[in-house]
Amino acid sequence: MERKVGWEVPSDEAERARRIALNAGVLDYGFHPIHQQGKVIWPLNEMVNVLFGEIIQSNFEARIELNPHQRLAVELPDVELPTKWELLDDLVLLPSDSFPNGNDDTWKAVCRALKVERVGRGAEIDSGPMRQSRAEILLGSHGWVNHKENGIRYVFDASKVMFSSGNITERRRMGDINAAGDVVVDLFAGIGYYTLPILVNAGALVVHACEMNPDSIDGLTKGLVANMVMSRCHIHQGDNRQTASKLEGIADRVLLGLLPSSTYAWELAFNCLKEEGIIHVHMNVEQQELDDGTFVKETLKSFEEMGSEVKLLHLEDVKSYAPRVRHVVLDIEVRKL
Ligand SMILES: C[S@@+](CC[C@H](N)C(=O)[O-])C[C@H]1O[C@@H](n2cnc3c(N)ncnc32)[C@H](O)[C@@H]1O
Repeated sequence: MERKVGWEVPSDEAERARRIALNAGVLDYGFHPIHQQGKVIWPLNEMVNVLFGEIIQSNFEARIELNPHQRLAVELPDVELPTKWELLDDLVLLPSDSFPNGNDDTWKAVCRALKVERVGRGAEIDSGPMRQSRAEILLGSHGWVNHKENGIRYVFDASKVMFSSGNITERRRMGDINAAGDVVVDLFAGIGYYTLPILVNAGALVVHACEMNPDSIDGLTKGLVANMVMSRCHIHQGDNRQTASKLEGIADRVLLGLLPSSTYAWELAFNCLKEEGIIHVHMNVEQQELDDGTFVKETLKSFEEMGSEVKLLHLEDVKSYAPRVRHVVLDIEVRKL
């Protein structure tokens, strides 16, 4: 029990009082309300002036810690709630169909429940090659976040640039590989989804990061500074079909992190490699083509036909992209003939 301030109201005014306290951000839902003799006492987190009922001191019983979903349900009892969201720094990015009639009070309630300062609502990632985010910032003055994950800082404007939380395992894996001393070419660097972990944790000597979206380059540059690896990354701004021609024959490892398909850049990747090296090919693949082995077989064949011996090192199943479609990464060792 804890002695604290509460708002005592007649039971038939209890719901009205609860809403007023909630909207004012003073309802302390870490404690149970007290129901006694036709009255309800709502626990408050600060002293307030009230137009009805009475402010008194009472002994309140603490609630078991509520989870974020429960806190959202307490804050917004009468509306359909999202079941998932992305937490990026002090910004929550809600799914695109959340709170279609939301207003400032809704966003403030979301902040209290999810313990964030800013609220955004996602939109379909644009289907063009830059995969822009188009998220809307509903509360807060900007979309810049400094998101920490596996010890890496990713810096980007969430209203302009996508961040796939579902690819966390692949970002971690790129930090766990042994790339000590490697020269790496990242043909689709974005904000450094894989460039940063490979530099910070996998020991790469240098990464040549190709990227054509200025918003992503802005984030990548800030991310390199935040992780103190700026001196080991060269950014090549522009379409990799032009910029990668300067990178021929220099790489121990090439990253092809473009979805839904990186096929058009396979030959660029091959050309960037030294006499031998490793290519990490990202693709969205039909489950059927994974089950019957055609994806792996056809991909290896394509690299063989460029004039090389190839060896499958690993097939990483990153996540589901759509029903019966998987985002996978194929690690291929390539030895030029
Ligand atoms: C968004 S990332 C992919 C996301 C990442 N694979 C992940 O898992 O989160 C792909 C990046 O490639 C860039 N890109 C696409 N086509 C490109 C091209 N031809 N040249 C350079 N950059 C390109 C896009 O601007 C984008 O930043």
